Amino acid sequence: MKEIRTPDELIAYGRALQVAHGFKGWISDEEGEILRRYIADRKITVAYECGTRRGWSACWMALGGAFVHTWDIEDLEGIERGTNLGERIQRHIGPFDLGVGKPLNYEKEPVLIFIDGDHSYEGVQRDFEAVLPYLLQGDVVVFNDTKSWKNVAQYIDDLKKLGFPVKDIDTYYGTAVLEWA
Ligand SMILES: C[S@@+](CC[C@H](N)C(=O)[O-])C[C@H]1O[C@@H](n2cnc3c(N)ncnc32)[C@H](O)[C@@H]1O
Repeated sequence: MKEIRTPDELIAYGRALQVAHGFKGWISDEEGEILRRYIADRKITVAYECGTRRGWSACWMALGGAFVHTWDIEDLEGIERGTNLGERIQRHIGPFDLGVGKPLNYEKEPVLIFIDGDHSYEGVQRDFEAVLPYLLQGDVVVFNDTKSWKNVAQYIDDLKKLGFPVKDIDTYYGTAVLEWA
């Protein structure tokens, strides 16, 4: 079992896999650290993710201390397997919007939701609207790719116009955070 206890250890593990297998399409280290810090600083115990891919962002959230439920429509081999972080990551195969409602309905403690799946306008909207009815005070929703996908940027702008207090963080792919008050 490979033990990963620090951001530096996780970055080194990810870099080695990227070089060995050519894995790509995952968040930057800075974006991973943002997820980890939200979870660690707020002592969030459960996170829900749309868009697992290889499990890189899920590893960052597990490193922060959360148990991560993560959905993907594809079933790719996960990089968390064989590491201690894998014990805190539960993969679900299928569309996020169809799976997330039931478990969220039972949450009483603040959760973090990370949306990094279907980057079409309708896709981001559908995945956010799947969690919206369940949001409680203290929950945090993080959107990825607000710079790299114009559809996502457009949806975030529209959320702001509707009055949602979404905050931008200037990262490589672009991050937007909604803290539910
Ligand atoms: C950019 S990748 C995610 C990268 C991952 N978050 C990371 O940083 O390691 C997007 C993933 O979302 C998945 N996806 C697309 N539509 C989805 C949906 N409706 N529900 C869940 N996952 C979806 C794709 O199959 C793809 O693996």
